[in-house]
Amino acid sequence: MNELSCTMIIFGATGDLTRRKLIPALHQLQYGGHLPEDFQVVAIGRREITQEEYREDLFHAMVAYTRILIDEDSWETLARRITYYKMDLTKTEEYRGLQTFLKERQHGENFSCNQLFYLAMAPEFFTVIVDGLKDTGILEETGNWNRLVLEKPFGKDLASAKVLNENIQRAFREEQIFRIDHYLGKEMIQNITMLRFQNTIFEPLWNSRYIDNIQISVSELDGVGSRAPYYDQTGALRDMVQNHLLQTLAITAMDPPKTMEADQIRDAKVKLLSELILFTEETSKTNVVFGQYESYKNEIGVQENSVTETFVALKLFIDNARWRGVPFYLTTGKKLPEKSAQVTVEFKAPNQCVQPEGEPCQVFDMQPGSQVNILEIKIQPKEGISLRLNTKKPSVISETVVAEMEYCQSCQNNFNTPDAYEKLLLDVIHGDSTRFTRWDELALTWYFIDSIHLDQVPLCEYEDLGRGPWEAHELLERDQRKWWHVETHKKEAPN
Ligand code: BG6
Repeated sequence: MNELSCTMIIFGATGDLTRRKLIPALHQLQYGGHLPEDFQVVAIGRREITQEEYREDLFHAMVAYTRILIDEDSWETLARRITYYKMDLTKTEEYRGLQTFLKERQHGENFSCNQLFYLAMAPEFFTVIVDGLKDTGILEETGNWNRLVLEKPFGKDLASAKVLNENIQRAFREEQIFRIDHYLGKEMIQNITMLRFQNTIFEPLWNSRYIDNIQISVSELDGVGSRAPYYDQTGALRDMVQNHLLQTLAITAMDPPKTMEADQIRDAKVKLLSELILFTEETSKTNVVFGQYESYKNEIGVQENSVTETFVALKLFIDNARWRGVPFYLTTGKKLPEKSAQVTVEFKAPNQCVQPEGEPCQVFDMQPGSQVNILEIKIQPKEGISLRLNTKKPSVISETVVAEMEYCQSCQNNFNTPDAYEKLLLDVIHGDSTRFTRWDELALTWYFIDSIHLDQVPLCEYEDLGRGPWEAHELLERDQRKWWHVETHKKEAPN
């Protein structure tokens, strides 16, 4: 048996995640020739549908919800590998049937015994599924591997995450668990490590002596859509900040890992996350802003008196030698003027003393027209990097002109660039957990989020598709700073 051969067993066959993300990602992997030869999918759902109906539905969802170019041959091949299996996953006795079904298939020709369980389900089902798999012996290992992929939310605070983790670890060891944070699969998030550690020009400057502040911003155009029942219970802090934004922060700010191996990178992130300065009652009031878009309460499924935040802006600090005193500003929100995500590094101005205390300080006056250096890591929609430099204007008098150096990665690759899920699914098949969240990282992010005194945080209303609550702008204006992503939006807006 080939080490990569496996059956992917998806719980949640007819859900959005499977139809919009997993199957399209598998199509891309099939098209690129990346799937192992005897790779199979067993998709588990409750509905009574035939194999043909199921495959047709998957095809139509791919057409409706993605921009990928569907290759007929690749789809045909993939469709043949997919089998729909009907069961009620809340009934423990039904796992016996699943076991028999899997065994029969796996003993048949072209089937392997490696098993990749993907829980594309709400977390309240995680425990029952994992128990069902364990109790029936589906997870017996006889030279094969079993891996479990979990989607967020993983708990709603540290206490609930711990309970969930304990339940799962009754059946799966930590190294078998792949907790997905799809931001870690995004090309430009992966590129941050490359940019920092493969270019000698950045790492020596990556600290409080040269960097004034770092901003991580994720804006969304859409509102809550059809996910209101989940979202209204969750809010932007838990839906986005606890995972995607803190993971991005950890990668941006961590010390260089000893090697680029999964556990070394995750150790470096854990160290960084353990150095986040926790919020107090006072800093929860002054350094955190929650917002709710005007029409949120009219969304179907949202409670009429909901106080759920659809926008967060916060300022945090890191207690280590590298970053002491440097503010990190994080923000995310729905119903904003555009969909975008970026990391912005604002360097200190040349007239600011950057030498360590005690040594003579070499400063340079800012020339007229000069601006601070800005490094922008553009995660989406465009992927790329831009660097703003001051240069001399060609002329007989000494004047400065700002040069913007732009690398647009997505412009070069155009269609079918790897989506996060393709990369992540391939990682699971290969057993590479670099881009997955380890339990200690997850526990630390919850510990940090739990330190926010929610009762102290103001909830501010903001206009649909407007600039977000003014309090979020005030958070930076108080520090004589501004959100750079808002500037970028203005600059890139069509006339
Ligand atoms: C998900 C959140 O994890 O990320 C959603 O649950 C959010 O609310 C989505 O819309 C954003 O992801 P992306 O890849 O579209 O930026």
